[in-house]
Amino acid sequence: MSDSSPDSATRPEHRHDHDVDHPFFAACYDHLPEPEAFEAQRTYLARDLSGRALELGCGTGHMFPYVVEGASGDLEYHAIEPDPHMRKRAVEAARDSGLAVDLRDARAESLPYPDDSFDVVLAGVVFCTVQDPDAALEEVVRVLKPGGEFRFLEHVGADGWRGTGQKLLDPVWKRVAGGCHLTRDTVARFVGHEALAVEEIDRVDVSVFPATPVVRGTLRRRENDVLG
Ligand SMILES: C[S@@+](CC[C@H](N)C(=O)[O-])C[C@H]1O[C@@H](n2cnc3c(N)ncnc32)[C@H](O)[C@@H]1O
Repeated sequence: MSDSSPDSATRPEHRHDHDVDHPFFAACYDHLPEPEAFEAQRTYLARDLSGRALELGCGTGHMFPYVVEGASGDLEYHAIEPDPHMRKRAVEAARDSGLAVDLRDARAESLPYPDDSFDVVLAGVVFCTVQDPDAALEEVVRVLKPGGEFRFLEHVGADGWRGTGQKLLDPVWKRVAGGCHLTRDTVARFVGHEALAVEEIDRVDVSVFPATPVVRGTLRRRENDVLG
């Protein structure tokens, strides 16, 4: 297990200041009640993992025990997390779960890996929080190998009165929830990316207002896309 700042992560284009810095949210995160139904969704994200996998915004490492369960023998697991308070807890979670993780201080918008590096990229409740979701998605596509999978579990903006409520709550919510936004149209963003083909997308009944609905899915980087 390493909390490394390897050379690639400290190149100028990958350096960043530490304004992803939410000590209170990080301290509370493991104590927040997670609906039991989330277990099945985390299992979905970590199913049959093999090859090189990257987890975006791993937080305190909630996914790690599921990754141990879902891994096949040849898994090489990487994770990024820009918040130092979250990352510290993730180091402990990796140790506790016995998962070897190459954990780096980086943002999804500027991944410290070469093109075509990963067989699988995972995002669990991360695109609600990243500062620039379009840039983060471009990076996912860039680091995925052609044919590689992007698996996600995200809460997205709702319709109707729930959507109106989310818009009203969003300014307060993002202050108390570590920068999380309630109103993002994350699935449309994913589905609309021309380099990604949809394998499956499902709405899952796991959460309560205001962080609802929750959607999970798998997209695959097209074999023949040409990155710009
Ligand atoms: C709601 S938490 C989810 C944590 C974890 N993925 C999980 O499943 O419990 C969102 C995480 O995204 C991280 N984050 C914030 N900005 C980010 C960025 N630009 N790139 C990657 N992760 C980011 C936060 O620090 C936080 O750990």
